[in-house]
Amino acid sequence: MLVTIEPRPVPVQRDRPPQENIPQTRVEREGLRTVIARYVEANRERLTPPLVLDELRTHATRLVEQAGMPEAYIDYAGVLLNNEVWREQLASVPFERRLLLMPKCLRVEDRCPAPFDELGLLCKQCGLCTIQDLQSEAERLGYAVLVAEGSALVMALIQTGKIDAIVGVSCLSVLEKAFPYMESAAVPGVAIPLLQDDCKDTTIDIEWVWDMIHLTSDDRTWRLDIDRYREQVQSWFEPEALDEIFGGPAENATERIARDWLAQDGKRWRPLLTACAFRALQTDPHQAVPDAVRKAAVAVECFHKASLIHDDIEDGDATRYGTDAVHTRHGMPVALNVGDLLLGEGYRLLATSGAPASVLAQMMRIAAEGHRTLCLGQGAELDWMANRRPLDPQQVVAIFRQKTAPAFEVALRLGAALAGASESIHEVLRQYSEALGIAYQIRDDLDDLAAESGAAACVKPTLPMAELYSRARGEDRALVEQAWRTGGISTEALMAKHLVEDRLRQQLESYKEAAIRTLPELGNASLKGLLRRMIGKIFRVEIQGWCSEFEARNAAGGEARAQVAR
Ligand code: IPE
Ligand code: MG
Repeated sequence: MLVTIEPRPVPVQRDRPPQENIPQTRVEREGLRTVIARYVEANRERLTPPLVLDELRTHATRLVEQAGMPEAYIDYAGVLLNNEVWREQLASVPFERRLLLMPKCLRVEDRCPAPFDELGLLCKQCGLCTIQDLQSEAERLGYAVLVAEGSALVMALIQTGKIDAIVGVSCLSVLEKAFPYMESAAVPGVAIPLLQDDCKDTTIDIEWVWDMIHLTSDDRTWRLDIDRYREQVQSWFEPEALDEIFGGPAENATERIARDWLAQDGKRWRPLLTACAFRALQTDPHQAVPDAVRKAAVAVECFHKASLIHDDIEDGDATRYGTDAVHTRHGMPVALNVGDLLLGEGYRLLATSGAPASVLAQMMRIAAEGHRTLCLGQGAELDWMANRRPLDPQQVVAIFRQKTAPAFEVALRLGAALAGASESIHEVLRQYSEALGIAYQIRDDLDDLAAESGAAACVKPTLPMAELYSRARGEDRALVEQAWRTGGISTEALMAKHLVEDRLRQQLESYKEAAIRTLPELGNASLKGLLRRMIGKIFRVEIQGWCSEFEARNAAGGEARAQVAR
């Protein structure tokens, strides 16, 4: 299946720390959200919405203390707590009766072509900022969307009786002003604070907004704490857990090396996807992970780790995870054999998973097809090494589609097969994995580009080299062609001159979007929600908008400021 995508302009990226009353890093912010979600879960009876401001403050103070965070975060924690107590009510309100409210300051002011009317900004979908993404998605779901500020407008809308819940993006100071109105109207509302409140260069966590607008009571996984789940998946790769899963301790050097390699390191995205896909397709969100799913997840990681051993040999990479690759430490013959063992172990785990015969047959087919495609992708890369020549971006992406996407596809589809998913779900998972895999490999190439500074360019076909070749002209192109053919020529300066990194970032965004665009086909809200959230987890980036609106207002003087306050 081919994915053809027109890249859209990428939102302007600005590095700006959040203000001091908001946790500085995303990890801290997510940490606080997790603490609060667990707190609300444990105290559900005492935390019935609407909570008045005093109650919120008392709980928020306690929470911030518990999380060992500065007192300055209390207001922020109050907003998160309020979100969490309203969450279930919001989830039960149909999309058509919800309002998404966003501030104008997310636009790129000096380039934004959108006019305003009395209801706010009329987005022209120019693609420069995040407003378009959020607005289109919310409208597609059925939301009313306003890009405006001011509680008066919101209150007027609530009074029309057409709105039963609000998802609001706003700065902390406006949220505080709006809170008493929301509380007195008892409207289920969740709020996502901008990371700054000076209306200038403001930034937002788009993944978080996305989660909030998609919240539905049909999605039984929204409570699934993916980070906690990831820790659980990680625990399956502890040495003792592995011995248990494989049916006993390692009995020889080959098994020991294989299990050490499995336990050593890795992000564990693939086994997490297996477990999550299964989980999303279950009706009971609290069900423990069945043994068959755990075995399939570990099998998926066996396949992946085998491919890494062989890949490092094929590419001549001496290190992995910042230490010796298997062949560096144990020699080539042992490494080849350990890789082969891991493939066998993966198939053995599937075969002994206890899945019913028809599911087992389907799983074998999925794994074998993935394995085959991956080898064909590796083969295309090896063929290039034996026959070096310039490739265009489409040719390189075709290799990514074969060498990187199958591992994700196998991971998701094994989980789905164990859950008895329909063929139409498998088809979406194929398409989603294809785009996800390509995006994943583009990011890997981007990381390499940053790490290598172009010096060791072109030992294998990469997207930066293909992009550069497609953009360079004249002498530059001749030099790039020589770099493709001979390697060892630094293309660092040319990469910078032809803005290759920018172009690659656009491509990365396009394929992430392509993955997201496969999801509307899914009738299952849980799976859909989960797969959307996984993109946020795997590609953890903050997409940011900015504006200089406040500066203009400041310049315009007190009247404008009074308007903001109103
Ligand atoms: C490495 O994959 C190979 C690529 C597809 C880039 P990962 O970077 O996900 O490897 P682990 O899971 O952390 O070992
Ligand atoms: Mg390779």
